[in-house]
Order: sequence, then C-alpha cells, then structure tokens
Amino acid sequence: MKHIISYFLLFILLITSACSSNYSDIISSPDGKIKLQVGLDDGKIYYTVNKENKPILDKSFLGFTLKDSNLNNGFEIKDIKHSTFSETWEQPWGEEISVDNTYNEMAVNIEEKSGLKRKFTIVFRAFNDGIGFRYEFPEQENLKDFVIMDELTEFALTGNHKAWSIPYNTEFYEGLYNASPVNELDTVCSPLTMETKDGMYLTIHEANLTDYAAMNVYPENKTTVLRTYLTPWASGEKVFMTAPHVTPWRTMIIADSPGDLLLSRLMLNLNEPSKIEDTSWITPGRYIGIWWGMHMKEYTWDQGPKHGATTENVIKYIDFAAKHNFAGVLVEGWNKGWEDWQSFEFSIPYPDFDIAKITDYAASKNVKLIGHHETGGKTKNYENQMEDAFAFYQKYGVNAVKTGYVGGILDNKEMHSSQYGVRHYRKVIETAAKYQIMIDNHEPVMPTGLQRTYPNLMTQEGVRGQEWDAWSVDGGNPPEHTTIIPFTRGLAGPMDFTPVTFNFNNPVLPNTRVRTTLAKQLALFVVLYSPLQMASDMIENYEKNPEPFQFITSCPTNWSKTVVPNAKIGEYVTIARKDRNSDNWFVGSITNGDSRKLSLPLDFLDKNAKYTAKIYKDGKSANYETNPYPISIEETEVSSNSVLDIDLASSGGTAIMISKMK
Ligand code: NOJ
Repeated sequence: MKHIISYFLLFILLITSACSSNYSDIISSPDGKIKLQVGLDDGKIYYTVNKENKPILDKSFLGFTLKDSNLNNGFEIKDIKHSTFSETWEQPWGEEISVDNTYNEMAVNIEEKSGLKRKFTIVFRAFNDGIGFRYEFPEQENLKDFVIMDELTEFALTGNHKAWSIPYNTEFYEGLYNASPVNELDTVCSPLTMETKDGMYLTIHEANLTDYAAMNVYPENKTTVLRTYLTPWASGEKVFMTAPHVTPWRTMIIADSPGDLLLSRLMLNLNEPSKIEDTSWITPGRYIGIWWGMHMKEYTWDQGPKHGATTENVIKYIDFAAKHNFAGVLVEGWNKGWEDWQSFEFSIPYPDFDIAKITDYAASKNVKLIGHHETGGKTKNYENQMEDAFAFYQKYGVNAVKTGYVGGILDNKEMHSSQYGVRHYRKVIETAAKYQIMIDNHEPVMPTGLQRTYPNLMTQEGVRGQEWDAWSVDGGNPPEHTTIIPFTRGLAGPMDFTPVTFNFNNPVLPNTRVRTTLAKQLALFVVLYSPLQMASDMIENYEKNPEPFQFITSCPTNWSKTVVPNAKIGEYVTIARKDRNSDNWFVGSITNGDSRKLSLPLDFLDKNAKYTAKIYKDGKSANYETNPYPISIEETEVSSNSVLDIDLASSGGTAIMISKMK
C-alpha cells in the first residue's frame, strides 16, 4: 500500500513538470549507486548514466529513422511513471537457483508535439548491476505498420575504454576477440565488454530479442560515442514493425570487477518468465558424441567406408556413455542430405543407422540419443519439415536436438542475426517445446537470455569453439581465447564450446592442435558454462586416460551457486560452482599463455564443515607448447579457512572436486 501511495504522488508531480520543454527526471538503482537520468533537449530525448557520481554515459540520444520519416525529434514528454519491483525467481537450471530481480523503473511517455503526433514509451530500469531500457510502441492511428531503417540509440561513453570485440559480420560469431580502444572499433556485435581507466567493467548487450534485428554498435566518427547498427534484411530495411510492439531491451552491466560481470543476471531479469509450465522434461547433463572423429577426418558425415553414424558405432558410444555416466550421445550424419548439403531430410535415416534399434538400446541403458538437424542454412526446407522432424524424434524418445546453420547466409539471402533469422530461430524453439525437446543451437543469432522464457533453449554455439583446434589453418585457438570468452560471448548465455579433448595432435594438419595443457581441458568443463556440456573427444582417447577423465564423469552441469574468486580478462579466471544435487563444489582455474600462481581462498565452503579436495593440476614440467599432458592428481583435506595455492603452467589449468565429508 505504501508503495502504491508514493507511486501516485510522484506521478502527479511529474505531470506538472512535464510541461517544461527541457524537462528531466531520474531513477536510481535500489542501492542508490547507479543513477539514470532522462531528459528532453530541444525536442530530442536523451539519457545519461553515472555510478557513485562517476559519469558512465554522457547525453546519449534516442530515436529512430523510419522509411518515410524521422522519429527522433520534435518530442514532448507527456508524463513519467515511476515504480519499483522486487521478486526472487528460480531457474529450472543454471549457474544458481535463485535470482534476485529488484529494480526501479521509469516509463517515459513521449509524443510528437505536432504533425502526426506519433507516440511511444521508453521504459528505463535501474538494477544494482546495471541498466536496461526499451522502446514500446502502443496501438495508434498514425503508426501502425512501419519500417525501421535505423535505430538511433546511442551510448556516449565518457572515456576511451579498452574494449574486447569481434566484427559484427564475423561468420557465426566464431572469431577471436581483440582488445582495442573504443574509438578504433569496427562495427562490432554485442556483448561488448569494456574496462575503464578507473577499474569499472561495462558490458553493452541486449535482452529478449523478439521479432527484431540483432543490435551491433560502432563508434561515431572515431569518437567514443557508440551508435546502434541493426543487422539489415538483404533489401536494406532493418525491422518491419506492426504496433503494438516493443524493441528488445538495450542493456549495460556496470560492475566493479570482471568477476561481477559473470554474476550479473540483468539480462535474464529482462526476459519474460517461463512460458513452459512443466519443466520436468528439461534435463541438463553431460554428453559425448560421434563428432570429433568427423572433424579429425577419421569418420565422414555422409555414407561411405568411413561413415561415423553406423548402428554399430553408435551402440559402442552408448555403452561408453552408460559406463561413464553420460546422459546423452550426439550423433551427426545420420540422415539423408549430407552428400550435397542442399535439401536435408530430417525423418529419413541412412540405411546403416537403425534408429529404432539404437533408441531401444539407449533406453535400456538409461542413455538418450541426442538428435541432429543440420540445415545447411536452408531454413525454408527445415521449416517445411519441422513439425514432422520433431515428432519423428519424439517418437523415438529423443529429447534434445542440436541444430546447425552452416552456409554463409540463410536461404542464400538473409543474415543469421537479421529479423528474418531471429524469427526462424524462435520458431524452432517454440516448435521443439511442443514436442518436449531441448535445443542446442549452432550457428545461432547471438543469445539474449531467452532461456528464461523458453528453458528448453539449453545452449548455443556462436563462439569459436574447440572444433577450431581440429581444422583451423591458423593453428587453432590461442591460449588466451578461453580467458576472454567468459567475459564477452559468455555474458550472452551458455556456450556449447565442446571442451575436453584429450588427444591434442592432428596428423592431417600438424600445425593445428589444442593449445592448452590437459589439466586446462578439465578446468574448462567448469569455467565455460553449458547445461548440456560436451566431452568432445573420441571415446578411445578417454579410455587411454581414465584418471583425469574421472573429473569429467563426476562434474555436474547444473549448479546451485557460482562464485568467481579470481579474474582478469584475457589473463586468468577461476570459477567455483556448487552442485545442485549435493554439497560438493567444483572449481576450474585457467590461464593464458603465461604460467602463474593464484591464491584460492575456499571461504565459499560451509563454515564448520570438512571437505576432501581432489586436485587435478599441471604436472611439474607441463607447458602447452612442448609438454601438455603431464597432470598431477592429489587429495587433501580442506575447510572454509583453507587457501589453496594454484600453480598454472603456460596455458594451463587446475580442476578441483571438493566433496563434503559426512
Ligand atoms: C558446425 C558445427 O559447429 C559442428 O558442431 C557440426 O559438427 C558441423 N557444423 C556439422 O553440422
């Protein structure tokens, strides 16, 4: 009741002041540290942001260029409504169970002063970990069907920060993130993470990308003012809108440390609650696959003497999965169409893949077949078969499908991150949900937190993953890559990076190899979060190395808590996660090409309890270049007062399983 009264008073006050032409208003984060101001400057709408009086965004203007007119000036603010909101919601799966969603909101109703008097609302929210805002177009006479040629949203940064980015048109986002000053950026995709000179960490991204184009940003005329560039349709338009409609949220995480970036849940909070009521069929887990062998050219996807997806081979993988506690076996190359990649058939298996026999056998072993839909980027062919394709898999008890969109552009025409692509990917998630199927989306549009609304959207690629170590002619992923992606691509959502290769050499491409130590491969299983987490290598390579492999077969993929004890972007990161189903913790710590020592306080453990820590660390002379395999495994008793010394080889790692003693 108190809340409703204060809301009412503010509303009256603001209606009075809104008559002034240079009107402005402010909201603060619940802890009062972040302040977001909105104002009107000569008929144009702008906002500014600061944290504890340090400016973060100067006057940043807002608006649109439409096909037939501008929608960025001549405005008045009709009124501003303030409100507050607080809830704690639970994730069916994730890096923790409970998420706090507390914010102050300011809904600014804007209208053109004359002419068509078109109107929209900008809703701003201030959280303790950053801000978000979106444009909302209500139903109205003079703005029904319209075309956005440009969104003019600005982020006028107050310094030339260090920024980690990939160009926006990087194919499938599979690029190496480079650090550069903001004013030297290309047009880059979000998330865009920056470090300021005074030690703040900022990430610009978006939340809830629905029937719109993905957001990219570029510096205006080599300044530090970032402007929005929406991925266009082939015909040049950015977005076809029909009011009522809202844009995605434009978001900025504002953190005091790199670790706090990883703990922000702002993007999830700006998505809608789950539309799937019964989530009991959504089950995170570890998986293996008939997969790395194709990338190493040991097997082929299509039929022939080296075909990977044979009934016999799959049964071997199912036996291995059952023995080592893997929930699923991914099988690629099982269906017709791999000969020419033109018109895949999603319900016609190759003759040497007996799906009934395979899925019966898998069920008897309590293992699931993970399905695969490679579309070759032909979304129309896929959409024509989609209902049947998911029904086919459902009939055989398949409850997770990896989708793929290899091929430069969709249907030989549209970009993956265009409104066209966004519409398609949503259709897949919704159709899969109807058939109770989880999705692992490769070659996706950049994730924006939709897994809150559709928890069957488990994981996505959109990252330069481990497969590049199999065939990339540049030699594979450099050592620092995995110390950057948690703070860039990883902030958009779970990554199907597919770590844990145990054999680093490639006889076909001798200069291309895994550029880590073996212990770092184990640590990546914890560091790179994915609820469906793959151990990517061929099973023969795990069989040769049973002891380190035990860490992987014990490591969960669903967590009740996450903490980040050490982090420096591009140099090192340590992440500790608590299992959802036990009192055990798992830690991964990794470094770039430099060997280093870190200190790991175990203060996240329960007080007054004893634990055993099983530590998998780089062996004495290990280094990623000439001696990557030595690993030392030791056990020690620890408590919340313990501080472990972490000793990382160059591109090395440490993985720790900490079990509570009874
Ligand atoms: C690219 C995907 O990233 C990879 O995982 C898959 O094996 C191939 N496409 C074939 O679909």
